[in-house]
Amino acid sequence: MKIVLIGFMGSGKTSISKILAKNLNYRWVDMDRLIIAKSGRNSDREIFDLDGEKVFRDLETSIAAELEREKDIVISTGGGIIMNPKNMFHLKKDAITIFLKSSFFTSKNRISKKNPPPLFRDVETARNLFAQRLPLYIKYADIAILTENNSPSNIAIDIVEKIKSYENNK
Ligand code: S3P
Repeated sequence: MKIVLIGFMGSGKTSISKILAKNLNYRWVDMDRLIIAKSGRNSDREIFDLDGEKVFRDLETSIAAELEREKDIVISTGGGIIMNPKNMFHLKKDAITIFLKSSFFTSKNRISKKNPPPLFRDVETARNLFAQRLPLYIKYADIAILTENNSPSNIAIDIVEKIKSYENNK
């Protein structure tokens, strides 16, 4: 099975996906890491600042294509993955997509103030992106899970339960 976690910056995708992969004995990949490795830069911030967002997005789409046929894997995506339908075409192939839902307020509080992701440097920009993206996360999700007031390990357990009932009801 291929499990794809989507959600806004600060929704907990990385930490939850890691635990989920461990619990299921699946491989774990973080798309941001793969993008950074492919770019030769040190961070997403560096790619945005030195190469521009377009370069980041093109790399993101090429990694999504590479992951299309993967199995027994948990994929953590970047918050902007849903902006390009091509990404979701590749990632959703034989996959279950989990939307990690959190309020803008919670996401904002989870984001590092010292070193925010490039699109969270300005809170108003991030707030607009949140509003613009929410319908897309919902559109692409097979399962949605609220990540407020719960620990990553409890959420990972919850996800496995929800996947089981989703599969049984198919
Ligand atoms: C982005 C989110 C980041 C990273 C890049 C762009 C976005 O990932 O992919 O900075 O457009 O929301 P996280 O959601 O893991 O912070």
